Amino acid sequence: MKRMLSGIKPTGQLHLGSYIGALHHFVEYQDQYEMFAFIANLHCITVPQEPEQLKKNLYDCVALYLACGLDPNRATIFLQTDVKEHAQLGYIMCCNTYMGELNRMTQFKDKQAKGEKNLSGGLYTYPALMAADILLYDPDYVPVGEDQKQHVELTRDVAARMNNRYGELFKLPEPLIGKVGARIMSLSDPTRKMSKSDGINKGCIYLLDDLDAARKKVMSAKTDSLNQIRFDPENQPGVSNLIQIYSSLNNDRPYSAIEEEFAGKGYGDFKSAVADSVCTTLEGIQKKYREVTTSGMIEDVLQAGAAKARPIAAAKLDLVQRALGMEIHF
Ligand code: AMP
Ligand code: TRP
Repeated sequence: MKRMLSGIKPTGQLHLGSYIGALHHFVEYQDQYEMFAFIANLHCITVPQEPEQLKKNLYDCVALYLACGLDPNRATIFLQTDVKEHAQLGYIMCCNTYMGELNRMTQFKDKQAKGEKNLSGGLYTYPALMAADILLYDPDYVPVGEDQKQHVELTRDVAARMNNRYGELFKLPEPLIGKVGARIMSLSDPTRKMSKSDGINKGCIYLLDDLDAARKKVMSAKTDSLNQIRFDPENQPGVSNLIQIYSSLNNDRPYSAIEEEFAGKGYGDFKSAVADSVCTTLEGIQKKYREVTTSGMIEDVLQAGAAKARPIAAAKLDLVQRALGMEIHF
């Protein structure tokens, strides 16, 4: 069985973008692949976090993995910090990644370009840690949204370079980007990605949003004055974003079928249908979320997940350190 691995940062609450772009693929693939899904709680502290809030987000993130349908009997679900090899291989990867490569990563470049102050060293070296997360487990595929593709490609480059220099250490992973919804945009500004940093902004639908609030966000989504439901991201970014959301929540319904369904109808009707799909999805997730959070199963899931992940990660780290001549065995 081929292996798949991915992670999500518990930086804020999970939203519809993280669900459509990543999490729902984890669930979809867990039968076909050996799935490793972790919570990137090292990556999340690359920007300042308030400890109490982080703890709550962390807990919710695991609960939402389960509520969205990840099955701990099939998938290995764990916290990054529970497998210490991530940080250690992360350091080694950092030493094998060039600053020139890190300088090209858009996530850091964008933040720097915005003039954000006091960016951390961790934020800069973030892709090297992400490479370690991946390479520890030799996955065949890494399902992510479009914004992470560059990081998986860097992972391949660094892995290939180390394989060349030190002998075969790592399998080269491939990013797996969904055909629909790899980049869900903000509802209030469809030229920007839907993101956790939107805060209470009405452009972001959180998976735990109150259903009425979620409906209102969809109904007030920015569109245009063309009054036609057509997939044309260039000229109709808002409508195209809603089409993507609707398609993804309805088994990747083809865009042409959606355009036909709403031919001659107004934006109000279309938004209502999108809102219905969003609310049905959220309702199901929230029902399971309540079950999961009252079941007391989260700690057990994490403990079992870490126990499965650790030996794999430990063996890989040992292989790497030996190959690099870093170890003396006793
Ligand atoms: P993050 O929440 O930044 O850790 O992202 C978790 C996963 O969700 C990554 O694979 C991202 O690429 C994906 N993702 C985050 N935001 C979006 C978005 N607006 N559209 C599609 N995928 C997203
Ligand atoms: N960097 C990813 C994000 O911001 C999260 C992440 C960390 C990840 N390590 C990973 C995703 C390894 C896939 C594989 O979304």
